[in-house]
Amino acid sequence: MKKILIIANWKMNGSVVANSKLLMAMLKFSNSLSHSELVVCPPHIYMHQVKEYIVGSGIKLGAQNVNENDDGAYTGEVSVQMLGDFYCRYCLVGHSERRLLFNESTTRIADKIIRLVAGGLTPVLCIGENLAQRERGEAKRIVTEQLAAIIEIVGLTCFKSVVIAYEPIWAIGTGKTASAEQAQDVHKVIRQYLCNLDKNIFKNLSILYGGSVNENNAGDLIKQSDIDGFLIGGASLKAASLESIYLGVDSVKA
Ligand code: 13P
Repeated sequence: MKKILIIANWKMNGSVVANSKLLMAMLKFSNSLSHSELVVCPPHIYMHQVKEYIVGSGIKLGAQNVNENDDGAYTGEVSVQMLGDFYCRYCLVGHSERRLLFNESTTRIADKIIRLVAGGLTPVLCIGENLAQRERGEAKRIVTEQLAAIIEIVGLTCFKSVVIAYEPIWAIGTGKTASAEQAQDVHKVIRQYLCNLDKNIFKNLSILYGGSVNENNAGDLIKQSDIDGFLIGGASLKAASLESIYLGVDSVKA
C-alpha cells in the first residue's frame, strides 16, 4: 500500500531555536512504522540542521525550491546535486507563491522537474486555481491545463515520478479550507485526467491536498478516496497541530 505523505512546508519561517524544539517534538510522535511518511521542507539555510536531527528517524527531508541548472553563476540559488548532498528526497515545484511572487513560468517549473527526476529526487508539483477562477466554476479546467502544460514539456515518463499537490490559492494561509467534497471533486478529476493518459503509469500516483489544513479538517479530508496526503503550511509550524494531523491520518487509513 502506498504511504500517506504529510509534507511540512515551513515557508520562510523558523530559527535555530524554534526548529530545534519543533524537530524534537516531531521525533517523539513520528514513527517509521506508520502508514504516513513525514517530510520537512525547511528554508535551505536550515537544511543541515534538520538533517542532523532526523538522521536515523522515519522523517524525510524536502526542499522548498531548486534551480533548474546544474551549476554556475546563479547567485543565491541551490542545485539538485546540492540538495542530494543533504539526502533531500523531495522538492516542491510550482508553488503558487513562487509562481505569483517570483514569476515562475511553466517552462522553468518543467525544467526543475526534469532536473530533479534526473537527480533522483521526487518533485512535488503544486497546482490550483485562484478565487476568481473557482467562482467562475473553472477549477477543474485550470488544474488540467496546468498539468497538460507541464506534461507537454517533461513527457509522461518523467512525469510518473511526480507527486501532485492540489492547493487552491484561495485556501492558502486564509483559514478557508476547501471542503472535503470540493477537494475530492478536483482530486478525482486530476486522477482521471492522468489515468486517461496512461493508467499503468499513473495508478500509484499520489495527490496531496494543501490549503489551511489543520487538526480540525484533516480527518474529513483524508477520508476522501482520492486524497493521499497533505502539504501543510501554517499548521506544520505548531508541534501539537502537526502531531494531531499525523496521528489522526494514520488512524483513518490504518
Ligand atoms: P497553509 O497550510 O498555511 O494554508 O499553506 C498551504 C501551503 O501553501 C503549503 O504549501
